[in-house]
Amino acid sequence: MDWFLYVSVGECWDPSDAQPAMYGEVQSPQYPKPYPPNLQEQWDLSVPEGYQIRLTFTHMDIEPSAGCYYDSLTILHDGKVLEKFCGFENSADGHHPGNHPILSPGNRLTLIFQSDSNNPERHQNVGFSAHYQAIDIDECSAPTPADGSGPLCDQICLNTLGSYLCSCHHGYELRSDERSCVLSCTGGIFDEPRGHLLSPGYPNSPPHGVSCQYIIAVERGFTISLNFSDTFQIESVDTEQGRTCPHHWLQVTVPGRKPTKLCGAESPGLMVVNSNTVQLDYKTDDEGPEQRLEPGVQHPHCPLPGSVARGRVTPLMTEYLYRDHIFVRCDDGYKLMMDGQEIESFNTMCQSNGQWHLPLPECHIIDCGEPKPLLNGGVTFLSGSQNQYLSVIQYHCNEPFYSLAGDINGKIFTYSLTCDKERRWTSNTVFPICIPVCGKPTTRISAYQRIIGGSDAPDNTIPWQVMMNIEGGRGGGIVIADRWIMTAAHVVSNQGVTASSDTVRVYTGLTDIKRDMSSPVYAASVHVHPQYNNPNYVDYNNDIALIKLRDPITFDSSVMPVCLPAEGATYQTGNMGLVSGFGITKTNDSRMVLTNKLKYVYVPLVDQETCTNSIKVAKTKLTNIPSLTNNMFCAGIPEGGKDSCQGDAGGPFVLSDSGRYWAAGIVSWGVECGQQGTYGVYTKVTNYLNWIHKTMQEN
Ligand code: ARG
Repeated sequence: MDWFLYVSVGECWDPSDAQPAMYGEVQSPQYPKPYPPNLQEQWDLSVPEGYQIRLTFTHMDIEPSAGCYYDSLTILHDGKVLEKFCGFENSADGHHPGNHPILSPGNRLTLIFQSDSNNPERHQNVGFSAHYQAIDIDECSAPTPADGSGPLCDQICLNTLGSYLCSCHHGYELRSDERSCVLSCTGGIFDEPRGHLLSPGYPNSPPHGVSCQYIIAVERGFTISLNFSDTFQIESVDTEQGRTCPHHWLQVTVPGRKPTKLCGAESPGLMVVNSNTVQLDYKTDDEGPEQRLEPGVQHPHCPLPGSVARGRVTPLMTEYLYRDHIFVRCDDGYKLMMDGQEIESFNTMCQSNGQWHLPLPECHIIDCGEPKPLLNGGVTFLSGSQNQYLSVIQYHCNEPFYSLAGDINGKIFTYSLTCDKERRWTSNTVFPICIPVCGKPTTRISAYQRIIGGSDAPDNTIPWQVMMNIEGGRGGGIVIADRWIMTAAHVVSNQGVTASSDTVRVYTGLTDIKRDMSSPVYAASVHVHPQYNNPNYVDYNNDIALIKLRDPITFDSSVMPVCLPAEGATYQTGNMGLVSGFGITKTNDSRMVLTNKLKYVYVPLVDQETCTNSIKVAKTKLTNIPSLTNNMFCAGIPEGGKDSCQGDAGGPFVLSDSGRYWAAGIVSWGVECGQQGTYGVYTKVTNYLNWIHKTMQEN
């Protein structure tokens, strides 16, 4: 028969005296904005008795100084300084906690944050943010106090949340001091078909003045036999009348018969009592020498339980007797495993057959599972493996197509995570984001070579170029974000009607239509500039449109975005721009040939006056020539021969700034193609930055 006794201690709380919190947060004033000067702020943290405080910093950025002389966060316990922090991660000066939590020796912790009045540099430090939680103290594994007050518990110590409980071996009772154990022998009815009875304190002598009563009562129809072990000894006195038991005895009483008193050094051996009940009274008085009583069959001892790797067996004793319990707890970062299954807790009992009722469990290392995946990035192990306890991983983006989004306040974060004992990935940084790298193709066009007068673009050199098919017509487009294509309004709009998004096919990563035409990406919506109004193809003002894609593009060498112009980007006459497209390559003979291969050509920016003049001249010879506005610019060479042409519209005209290409223009129109004295006209993208950002944000 197994049994457990649950003891619950109830206490009454004064409602005004509310329990301290189990966890909480602390932040410097105005966090995450920079903290003000001349601060002196104090926090007194407390958790309930029996707990420690674990304080973990999620971020710290305090003006660094040697010895944290100027600004600092001081951590005190009981008036004693535990730590004084300042600086930020990897700062040369200062003292930063990194990602090590701080454990208070008791249940209280004081934080004092101070900043000085003058600050040489612009004050940009944001202070700190931390959270704390109550951590249970395992009082049972604390060493015996040195003050001689003895161990916490006489016999068995059980750790509980926030406290501990003492308990006693079978045959003992916990005294009112709740820590020491006394013998107890008046106890209950023995009704099991088989059992053992031991004299109190066995194998030691019983104390004086013990009076124990044991009642054995088994089911009707069974009879009891008592089998005394050979080691039987109860003090006796031999008189003339024979042996008497004046001070100590064991009396056997069978209902309806005269009781028998037993003592002496000879075992009564087997006693068949022919009854289903029997009462045993064991008595020692205050006189007479202490004697040894050893009735009963061999006392069941269980073997020493041994040890559990990465775990603790409690209580640790020199011997374990019948009905003793042992508990196993695993070290931090390890879990209890039995028969391949994780178990919540473990205890086993010493049975009457001298065997433990369960074998010891094992402690296996815990793991935190797969960390949250990072879109367009991944993780690498800085230490550890298989997401196990204390593994440290780091996030990275898929270079060179993606890079980590700008670090907060210009501080470099490591974006590393540690697997903690609660099986959570913890970090002192925010979750990273991978943003696409713009304007940096993996392959560069090596030489200036000579659409009209252009050359075949090698693979991966103009990855932002897309080819578009709208209701059968060909046009160009420019990748500017993972879901956005920029193009010319006249490519997606005809007689004031915008093409419906399901007629738009976008082909990315193409350099050779015959070789690598694959399935297109589809448009979700088409956004023509609201001021574009070109019913008869004589007004190309505001020739710009944006196409939102149904699904985002994952960038690689063949598809990458180009950068948008920086605020205030300049167009310097004479600078060479790169134009590309799948448009017409020859116009001199009567055949107009649309190219199967992506072509590019470098053409210089032409000043506005030269271009206006060239258009004036054209207007004298031809009708229906559109006008040049300030939302357009021209590019080309006076002698002609290099230009964009029909089919290229909507495609990119890019300029390069320190190795990075940005979208300066969109192929829009021209008076014929590549003729002497004419230029290609492009939509001036800088004039539309606000509209572009607004449209992308709102859709
Ligand atoms: N409007 C033409 C098209 O739809 C683009 C013309 C560019 N012409 C030039 N000479 N650059 O494809």
